[in-house]
Amino acid sequence: MSVRTFYLGLIAAFGLPWVFLVAVPYGQLTANDVTMVDESIGQTYPQVNAGFIEYGNRIYASEGCFQCHSQMVRTTEVSVDPYRYESELGSPVRESRPEDYVGEDYAFLGVQRIGPDLANVGITKPRDIKQATGLDEVDPADVRQWHMEHLYDPRLIHEWSNMPSYQHLFEKRRIQGQKSNSALNINVGEGYEVVPTERAEALVTYLMSLKKNDPIGPPKADKPAADDEA
Ligand code: HEC
Repeated sequence: MSVRTFYLGLIAAFGLPWVFLVAVPYGQLTANDVTMVDESIGQTYPQVNAGFIEYGNRIYASEGCFQCHSQMVRTTEVSVDPYRYESELGSPVRESRPEDYVGEDYAFLGVQRIGPDLANVGITKPRDIKQATGLDEVDPADVRQWHMEHLYDPRLIHEWSNMPSYQHLFEKRRIQGQKSNSALNINVGEGYEVVPTERAEALVTYLMSLKKNDPIGPPKADKPAADDEA
């Protein structure tokens, strides 16, 4: 065998598979820009998560929340998810798409639903509170407070809840002078207060940001061609 045939053989054996298994798929996957801007509504797709939300995302992972919660609106063929969301959220409502998870290091699709789906909890929770209080506007501080109390002890809110409590994300301490602004509205003994740690703050910021209901995308196929005259 000549040296030339040997090298050609090497290229055929390793080079071609590399082209088709690595280079071509890489090109296809990166062809859809990760961040797109829809000029018509001035939004990026998908939304880019800022640092503190990203930190909360890590805590969601490390605390194992995904073991009981999904973040996926299942397809209409196999579930009633979209209908449920539609009646709960109004339109636009849709099934989750692969593009919704672009930019996330790990997609928390979930493994089982022991608790409710959290794909859109950033929208559903304020709405729940709005319905419960009858107010027109919900103060984000109230939503934050709801999540904090729920994390601290889910049974404070639903007696029947089987969600574990995450008290280790909070600090119980003696009140120094005045009660802290961030203290929970719960009674833990005279002269004491419960305040969220930074981890709890990040986790709740993350939960409040959750919404997989972006009107834009997926990048190409699903979108009507741009109207040049408009
Ligand atoms: C053992 C299963 C389990 C684990 C683990 C779990 N949850 Fe839950 N979660 C539930 C159940 C059941 C409910 C419904 C009852 C309730 O509201 O407490 C729930 C409700 C919720 C809700 C309210 C949803 C809504 O629409 O009302 C949020 C938010 C939530 N969980 C966040 C979390 C976060 C964040 C973690 C991780 C720190 C977590 N859960 C871990 C079972 C779990």
